[in-house]
Amino acid sequence: MSFNTEDKTVEMEEDAEFQRQLNLFVRSSTEKGIELVKIGESIAALPRRRSFLDIGAGGGDLTIPVSQSFDETTIVEPNEKQAHFFRRRCPHFKIYDDYWEKVDLAAKRFDFILCSHVLYYIPEGRWVETIEKMHAHLEPGGRIAIVLQSPLGEVARFFNQFTRYDVNILELWGDLIRKYGDEAIEVRYFMNEIWTDSLDDMVTIALFLLIDRRFRDYEEGIRRYIESHHKVADGYRIMQDEILLLIKKTSEE
Ligand SMILES: C[S@@+](CC[C@H](N)C(=O)[O-])C[C@H]1O[C@@H](n2cnc3c(N)ncnc32)[C@H](O)[C@@H]1O
Repeated sequence: MSFNTEDKTVEMEEDAEFQRQLNLFVRSSTEKGIELVKIGESIAALPRRRSFLDIGAGGGDLTIPVSQSFDETTIVEPNEKQAHFFRRRCPHFKIYDDYWEKVDLAAKRFDFILCSHVLYYIPEGRWVETIEKMHAHLEPGGRIAIVLQSPLGEVARFFNQFTRYDVNILELWGDLIRKYGDEAIEVRYFMNEIWTDSLDDMVTIALFLLIDRRFRDYEEGIRRYIESHHKVADGYRIMQDEILLLIKKTSEE
C-alpha cells in the first residue's frame, strides 16, 4: 500500500492479528499516554463536555479514558472484534460497527470528535471530505482532534525504505484553513518512543505501522533494517513523530 495514492486500497490484516499487533504496539510505546496529555489540553478548553465521538476507536486505549470526561460516548469501529470488545467492556457506549465514510449518524452532534491514526485507511484525496463529515457532526463550540504520523522522523524514514509516506500535511493544513478559517485550526507536534526487547516484537510493530499485510513479503528486509538502524543496548528503539490537528467550530456555526 502507498498511503497517498488515490486509487490503491489497503489490504488489512485479519481482525484478530490486527488486534494482536495493536496491543503489542500500545504496550511498547509511550504514544497513548502522550496523546492523552495532548488531547486532554484540548478537552479542558471545551465549553461543554456532553458527547464524545471516537472514529476508529481501536483497542479503546484513548476512548475509555477520554469517555470519563463526557456524559455519553459513541464509537465508529469497523473491526468486528474490536466492536465486540467494546460491547462487552463498555455496554453504555453507542457502538456503530461501520466505516466512517458509510456510517449514518443522522443529525447527531458531538462536543468532541477524535480520529487518531485512522485517516491512513482512507485515500488521501478524500481526507477533506472525510473531515467535512466530522465537522457536520460537531456541536458549535466543539473540537475535532485528528492525530497523524508526521512525514518526518525515524518512522517516516523507515517507511520510505519500503513504501512512500509523503502525506502532504501542509496542503491539508492549508485546505482546512481555507475551509474553516485560520482561527479554527491549531497544529501540535509530539514524539512517541517505541521500545521492545526483542527483534521479533519490533518487526511485528513495524508491520503494524506499515498497515498493509502485503508488507509481510518484505519481512526479512524489514528485520535487517531494524537490526541495522534501531538496535540499542538491550533492545530496539524507534521514535515516531506525530501531528495533532485541531479544528474548532465557532459558537455561531
Ligand atoms: C491504528 S488503529 C487506531 C486506534 C485508536 N484510534 C488509537 O489511536 O489508539 C486504526 C483503527 O481505525 C479503524 N478503521 C480503519 N478504517 C476505518 C474507517 N474507514 N472508519 C473508521 N475506522 C476505521 C481500524 O479498525 C482500527 O481500529
